[in-house]
Amino acid sequence: MDKNHIIIFDTTLRDGEQSPGASMNTEEKIQIALQLERLGVDVIESGFAAASAGDFDAINQIAKQVDNICVASLARALERDIKAAGEAIMPAKNKRIHTFIATSPIHMEHKLKMKSDEVIKKAVEAVKYARTFVDDVEFSCEDAGRSDVEFLKEICDAVVSAGASTINLPDTVGFRLPSELYERMKAMVDFLGDRAILSAHNHNDLGLAVANTLECIKAGARQVECTINGLGERAGNAALEEIVMAIKTRQDALGPLYTNIISKEIYATSRLVASITGIEPQPNKAIVGKNAFAHESGIHQDGVLKCAQTYEIISAEDIGASKTNLVLGKHSGRHAFKDRLITLGFDLSEDELNSAFSEFKALCDKKKEIFDEDLRALVSEEITKIPEIYSIITLSSSACNNGHTSAAISIRKMLENGEEIILSDAALGHGTIDAIFKAIDRISNSAGELKDYKVAAISKGKDALAKVDVKVKFGQQTVIGHGLDIDTMLASAKAYIAALNSYLSMKV
Ligand code: KIV
Ligand code: ZN
Repeated sequence: MDKNHIIIFDTTLRDGEQSPGASMNTEEKIQIALQLERLGVDVIESGFAAASAGDFDAINQIAKQVDNICVASLARALERDIKAAGEAIMPAKNKRIHTFIATSPIHMEHKLKMKSDEVIKKAVEAVKYARTFVDDVEFSCEDAGRSDVEFLKEICDAVVSAGASTINLPDTVGFRLPSELYERMKAMVDFLGDRAILSAHNHNDLGLAVANTLECIKAGARQVECTINGLGERAGNAALEEIVMAIKTRQDALGPLYTNIISKEIYATSRLVASITGIEPQPNKAIVGKNAFAHESGIHQDGVLKCAQTYEIISAEDIGASKTNLVLGKHSGRHAFKDRLITLGFDLSEDELNSAFSEFKALCDKKKEIFDEDLRALVSEEITKIPEIYSIITLSSSACNNGHTSAAISIRKMLENGEEIILSDAALGHGTIDAIFKAIDRISNSAGELKDYKVAAISKGKDALAKVDVKVKFGQQTVIGHGLDIDTMLASAKAYIAALNSYLSMKV
């Protein structure tokens, strides 16, 4: 173990997915995992295997598809959770079970209803059982931020003796101040010495997650748990890109510490996660927000033109956000298209490339200039597509201001025997979107309940692509769908149909 190496443990696919509205399907999780591997993270927490069959499948597929990167699954300190985690990660070359139990007085008394000695017993049993599946076991003291340090020492001593090699001390509710977390982490590092790697996992409820993580590093933590764009439960987790760029930019203060992250992959990863989850980083978000490198004031612009370092401590190029964003059009060939995608971080198979290229050509007929953002959106849609049981053929809608809005729609349905049929219907609704979704429900004989609807312009201009993200409940299942088109109504219909296809593909 190199003492200067900070292990980056990415939990975008687990804690990040716990962000309201961020659920992802298996294909989408695989794409993110492959990009995290290109980014250079050391460990991917790919989900919580016991949470659902979908989670188990996604972890298992990721474990099969990544190379040497370590694949982890979360598990409560329960036999069934640990078994599911162990089985889901089994195909990975490097694998880890991450098991946890709460250790703060408030959690033990009200949530677990257990005495502290019972909690230690459960934790030790969990770690021993996890070791029957893998050599690499991480143990987390949930709500360590509000746990008694003497109790943390007692339980950590026991789980390390039982076989845990990483000890994670989460500030689960984002309560601690940097100086306090430094002291607590230092006490644990001094106590455990070389017996285990100490890990930081900080939530952002007071906006301190990254500052707290850097303090934990200073105190001797050698693993940090973080997410792309700071996604995560409530106010989110510490943002990977901020921690990594702080370490890289402030070598004078933090060196010789380093991470294995390839910083030029940061922007592509951030965009992929934003486009898949539909959660855009705020414009002034550090490192990856759309204004992070924009200089608005005349004085700043003048300074930057004379010498970039006057107002820039990092350049857009450092994180792979190229300034030259204009791009391809109608006359661009397959080669230029492929080259541009490689620059943007997409590594497509021949089939995916062919299909993305024909979507690109179709888009060129509707839109004059295609920007990087359009390409990213188009290609992520293409590679994360789930089997299309239904696909849209035509849509017409009429909107009136007297409350009568109608939509007529024709849809292709792929039958199990490979035959296709065309189905058409129309519906009235309260507004065009309602009418379109009702018409789709009538055709597919389903009854979706719309839980969330978001629309965003992908690039600039009146002919900008619209990206619609929907969250729909079919039966007991809530699924997400994305749709892309220069027409917002068509993008909405595509998003709703994608959600329906996702639901149907879960049922088979
Ligand atoms: O925040 C937290 O405590 C967690 C643990 C389950 C690791 O996410
Ligand atoms: Zn967490």
